[in-house]
Amino acid sequence: MAALINGKEIAQRVRESVRAETEDFKARTGVTPGLAVILVGDDPASKIYVGNKKKACIEAGFNSFEHILPASTTQEELIRLVERLNADPSVHGILCQLPLPKHLSSRDVIAAISPKKDVDAFHPQNVGKIMIGDYDFLPCTPAGVMELIHSAGISVEGKRCTVVGRSDIVGKPMAMLLLHENGTVTVCHSRTKNLAEECRSADILVAAVGKAKLITGDMIKEGAVVIDVGMNRDENGKLCGDVDFATAEPKASYITPVPGGVGPMTVAMLMKNTLTAAKLFAGEEK
Ligand code: GUN
Repeated sequence: MAALINGKEIAQRVRESVRAETEDFKARTGVTPGLAVILVGDDPASKIYVGNKKKACIEAGFNSFEHILPASTTQEELIRLVERLNADPSVHGILCQLPLPKHLSSRDVIAAISPKKDVDAFHPQNVGKIMIGDYDFLPCTPAGVMELIHSAGISVEGKRCTVVGRSDIVGKPMAMLLLHENGTVTVCHSRTKNLAEECRSADILVAAVGKAKLITGDMIKEGAVVIDVGMNRDENGKLCGDVDFATAEPKASYITPVPGGVGPMTVAMLMKNTLTAAKLFAGEEK
């Protein structure tokens, strides 16, 4: 029987602490943190995510600036908007919701965002800083996973950590953060020869591939910590993770549910990054 790591509750605690800190920060500096979110097109999931981010901003006491653009937006128009937001002193964080429509280059758009306002930590300069362990921002989802691990009182030091998935947004930075805390890290992907065996060696298993119920109980070591970053629909259209919860839960010592695990942490960490960006803008320490 595993203990559930309640992401909803932990995210709420992070958001409350950001709200309280923001109140002090505003009183001290007269600066209101501002987050600009860009959404191109009308992907239904992205619309929900962007709506959640706006709600969280308002709750934290931030200014929220939404830029909803049609799917027909050109690369030049999008870059022009980013440049305008880079120059706007009331905007401290800029986030362009991914994925973008196919004709747009997310790489070029991310590179156009000022690294100081890059609250996703996707800009190459920020990615490089994370690599050497000298950063202002951490990408929200991996940072949220670390917060969950810490909240449960789990130490990474010396543990075998397996990350399944090598995306720029989650898998790669996740591996780096576990490495910074002295985990022994393996990254698995679609060409990995024996995924089950790699997973079974893990004391801490992080699944971030986007494949419904890929990780089953027989792939989990007795007593492992299982973190599920996936957000998928199963054969009945029900929300589920990359881990098959029913068979994994009896093997794990700790496990995150889907929904209510990693998901809510992403927005909470985004609020934290936006407050950090505003503090740095105001000349304060982060
Ligand atoms: N799409 C899915 N996750 C994310 C995220 O963390 N940031 C952005 N910008 N887009 C996303």
